[in-house]
This record gives sequence, structure tokens and C-alpha cells, in this order.
Amino acid sequence: MPALSDATRGRLLFGGDYNPEQWPESVWRQDIRLMREAGVNVVTVGVFSWATLEPRPGARDFGWLDRVLDGLGEAGIGVCLATPTASPPPWLGARHPETLPRDEHGSVVWYGSRNQFCASSPVYRAHAARITTDLARRYGDHEALRLWHINNEYGTACWCDETAAHFRRWLRARYGDLDALNTAWGTAFWSQRYDAWDEIIPPRRAQYLVNPTQALDFRRFTSDALLECFVAERDIVAAHSPEIPVTTNQMPLFAGLDGWRWAAEQDVVSVDCYPDPAVDWRDPEGPAHGALVADLTRSQARGPWLLMEQAASAVNFRAVNAPKPPGVLRQWSLQAVARGSDGVCFFQWRASRQGSEKYHSAMLPHAGPASRGFARVRELGADLARLAGLVGEPVRGARIAVLHDWSAWWASQQPGRPSSLVDYRRLLAGWHHALWRRNLTCDLAHPEADLGGYRMVVAPHLPLLGDTALAHLVDFVHGGGTLVCGFATGVTDADDRVRPGGLAPELRALLGLSTVHEWWPLPAGATLALDDGTRAELWSEDVEVADAEPLARYAEGELAGRPAVTRSRRGAGTAWYLTTLPQPEALAALLARAAEAAGVGPVLPGLPEGVEAVRRGPALFLLNHTTEPVTVPLPSPRTDLLTGRAHPRELTLAGRGAAVLTPTE
Ligand code: GLA
Repeated sequence: MPALSDATRGRLLFGGDYNPEQWPESVWRQDIRLMREAGVNVVTVGVFSWATLEPRPGARDFGWLDRVLDGLGEAGIGVCLATPTASPPPWLGARHPETLPRDEHGSVVWYGSRNQFCASSPVYRAHAARITTDLARRYGDHEALRLWHINNEYGTACWCDETAAHFRRWLRARYGDLDALNTAWGTAFWSQRYDAWDEIIPPRRAQYLVNPTQALDFRRFTSDALLECFVAERDIVAAHSPEIPVTTNQMPLFAGLDGWRWAAEQDVVSVDCYPDPAVDWRDPEGPAHGALVADLTRSQARGPWLLMEQAASAVNFRAVNAPKPPGVLRQWSLQAVARGSDGVCFFQWRASRQGSEKYHSAMLPHAGPASRGFARVRELGADLARLAGLVGEPVRGARIAVLHDWSAWWASQQPGRPSSLVDYRRLLAGWHHALWRRNLTCDLAHPEADLGGYRMVVAPHLPLLGDTALAHLVDFVHGGGTLVCGFATGVTDADDRVRPGGLAPELRALLGLSTVHEWWPLPAGATLALDDGTRAELWSEDVEVADAEPLARYAEGELAGRPAVTRSRRGAGTAWYLTTLPQPEALAALLARAAEAAGVGPVLPGLPEGVEAVRRGPALFLLNHTTEPVTVPLPSPRTDLLTGRAHPRELTLAGRGAAVLTPTE
């Protein structure tokens, strides 16, 4: 099977989406000259060019793409060639309205933007297969081709009749017979029993809350339906160029697709990383988001991955779109490489003059080649060239796994739960952030994955936990591992059915609890004091310990005196339970304490706050996310790959400065 190394060929990939169809050919020559000047070695072509390639049904206009690919090839720039199927031309929707998605209300989602296709539509799929086949035939052996890029940011859900039929087929394969479905969905509740398959529909707009397991299965189905589209196109291109790896750029921390299942179908796992909408570029904690996206993507890829898109500076989808301050682009790019990316790519090469993203930054901004923005891009290209020796190297030292499961995420997003303030993504990010700020390197893992390589496993929020996952966690602890569970772990099974007693019996035994009497979610903004001097928020639980040791108790409120944090020893291991959400500093301290007891320490001890440290291959990355200089003592003499300078004992990093250190020869 082809791999990322077939695309990188010993260099960190550097480039971006290239949309030459938006420009006259005279501009293309300048593009190629400037790309070479900046050290660009790959560009993604054709992402949104379906209407240019196939201006009317069956017509083909490949001449321009021939010239683009030939020009890039002659200049030594590799091509990541996209199938254009994310944005069908208007003629497809106009002639075949059944290819257009419908929302929960049954309203058509029209063309005139992008991503307007129904994944279940055989007509869409047939047209997508045709254009993909022709592209693969024509360019499958082009010398510039390095990587196939299928579609773009899959994610459109649809509730139409074609989808309903497809959903029923998917359900038949999952459940076999209707009784099993009725049992799994708990249709005895509210008279929802199905008597024939044809009665089943996607969870459309209804009078009140829809069946939660129907909704959960629909999320699973939607992810699988889109994955079928990916696989179909992947197989077409792979048949024509078996030696070229295939990817699709996923959205970061996107709820819509089960990233574990998707990663298993790709040669290369790639992601688009844009800042969390809440993050200010200047916030030294801001890069925590990039670290999480990188760690998740690396874990999905089980090794090197590819940062397919990021912004050179401002984006255009926040309320106020400020540019990246100097140094931020470099820091965040190096962070991706530190955490396992074999490239740094952008949306997009040249800023568009028209269209919805004309105010989105680009490698080559509107201000042109003499701009500061382009100078930063050139400098970044030079930095990445110096790090070529790290291509393919693994990230080292991840002894902690953060458990993450899309089914748990989907279950937690449903209405009718104890607290609508519980936000899965915020909890996942909050726990990861707590580890990140202490430089405790971690992977993410599905709860059913093999956890054998980890000393500590943390479960920020897995209210839904299947039987296999439960068994894994029990084995992990008995085998000597440390497990730290967030509140409400394991309340429901894989069908989102509440387990007897409100907590899986295996988990109750593991955690040393006898009863969870009640959940006491907290109002927005409320906090509770614990008797260890910390404060907690969002949630509390009235639990009864069997033989667990309470490490902290509630110091106020209805649960004053009741256990808040517990620890139990089981077999050779330890299981912690947090009945609440400690505030960020307290959570970081608690996880660091559990890690230390598990024999897991930070990448470098004693680093000042705001300095990120990661080991990749032989290199130690140090990233100072603060704006003040910091001095870092080094365990042994090191040389900075970025500057060539030797540092015998210590190193001073400027504000927003970075170093990539290898042992001095
Ligand atoms: C996504 C898309 C790109 C572009 C960028 C803008 O990542 O894949 O086409 O819209 O967002 O940030």
C-alpha cells in the first residue's frame, strides 16, 4: 500500500491549495516562479474545478489542467490532485434535483455555494465516479502526481427520501430484523414501535424530542454513507495509480464523521487546522487547539500525517478576523511538525479576488510578493527545508492515551440529558489542554483500541461506553495501568441504554464505588469548593464509595462532605474517578499527579509556563508561545537545526521563538 513517504520523498511537504482556474494563464507563470522562490514543493489542484472540467454534462475540458500539471512538473513542484466532487456544477442540481441534500425540515439545500450533494444519491455518485475516472485515467501516471485528494472536507448530512432508503439498508445490515431494532431503539417508549422497515425514516423535524438511538444511529449512518463516497472514489484513483497514496482532508475535531473509521480507509490521514473560534492568536494558550488536532490526527494515522490546510494569516469566518501576529505562523507550523506532520500546507496559494473567501489570507496575499506576509511564507519554507531529516520520524514519549469516541460525542449532543451545558468537545479539549500545558505527551485512542503501550489512560467524557471498551479498561487497570475517568463515564451502553444502576457494574467495581445516587449538574458559572482547596464546575455527583479512597470531598453545597475525587487500587493498577470538573489549574495538577504516580513525566522538567516541548525522532522541539524571552536549561549539549548554532548547557528562546534541537555531535 502506498504511504505518505511516497508523497514526501524525503522532504516536508510545503504548499497549498492552488486554484489556477480563477486566474488568466499569464498569472500561472508568476505563480510557479514565486512558488519556487518560497520553497513550495507541492500544491493541491482541482479541489473546486468540476464546473470548469465538465462545463456541461459529459463535456470535458482538460486542456488547462494539462498545462497546469505540466508546468508544475517541469518546475519540480509536486501535485496533490483533487477529485472535484465536493462542489458539483449547477447543472447537476438543476437537472437532477434529487442530488441536492435536504435538511431535517425537508427543505432543499441549493447550489450556489459548495458541498451540495446527497451522499446517498446514485445520480450524484455516478457523475462523481465518471469525472473521477476520467481524471485518474488522464493524470494517474503524470510525473508531477504525488498524492490524491478525494473531495474536500466531507460532512454534508441529508434527510431526503433517497437517504431514508439508504438508512434502512444500513439499519438492516446492523440489526438484521426489526425486533432487534425496536429493542435497540427502545421503541416501547412513546409508542414508537416499527412494524415494517418502510416506516423508518431519518430523524426529521418532529413535534418533540426524537428517539435518541435513532438519532445516534443516523449520525453513525451519515458518517458511513459519506465514507462510501470516499471509498468509491479512492478505489477508482487507486486502480489507475496504485503507487500514489490517497487522502481526504478532514475537518479538525469535526463531530460529523467518525474519524477512527475514516482514518482506517486512507493511505494518508490529513487535516485542515484552523483556530478554535474562541481563540485569540495572541493567547499563549491558543496553540493548545493545534496540539489537540495534531495529536488526534497522528493517533488516527498511527504515525506521520499531513497538515493539509491552515491559514497563512487571517481567516474570514470569525466575527472579527485579525491577522496572525508575527511569529505565530511559524510557531504553529513548527508545532504541527513537532507533533508528527510531514508537511505544512495552506488554504490557499494565492488570495482570490472574488468569491466568498476573498478576505481569507493566502500564502501570496493580495499585497503581492513584496508583502510581509509573503516574506514570512518564504522564511517558513526555508525553516522547513532545514527539518527535512525529520520526515517520517515518530513522535516520542506518549505514555498517556486520551480516550475519544464519536459515538459518545453524538450521544452527549442529544437533548433531554441532565445538563445541556455539558459539551463533549470542550471536555475533551480541556483535559487535553491540562496535559499539554504540563508537557505530558499523549496520544488519543478509541476506547476499544489496544491500550497496551500506555501507562495512563484518561477518559474526559465517555457517557456511552460499549462492552468491549469496558472490558479493555478493566484489563488495563488490572494489568498495572492508571485510569482517570471523568464524570458520568459508562452511564449507557452502545445503544445509549442506561446501564443497571446508572453506571456499568464492571466500572463501578473498578472504581470502588457502590452507588451513584444522583447527578447534580451545576448551573452556568457556578463553582463548588472542594476540601483540597480547589474549585470545580459544571457537574457533581452523589456517590457512595465501596472501597475507593476519597482524595477530595465537596466542601460546600448540597453534597458537602460527599466524595468528589476517588481512587481505587485494583490488581496492579489504579482507577481514579472525578465526579466533577476541576477548574483548569486544578485539573492540570490532578492529572500531573496521577501521571507522576504512574511513572510518567513531562518532556523536560521545569519548563516555564507557555513553553511547549515535544520530542520527534532525534529532535527536541521547544516553542515559546509567550511574548517574553525564556531561558531553558538543557540536559545535554544540543544544536539547533533551525540556526545551526550549538547550545552546550542552556538556550534562550526569544518571545515566540522556537528551536529544534538535536544532540551536538
Ligand atoms: C476549509 C476548506 C477550504 C477553505 C478553508 C477556509 O478548510 O477546505 O476550501 O474554505 O476552509 O478556511
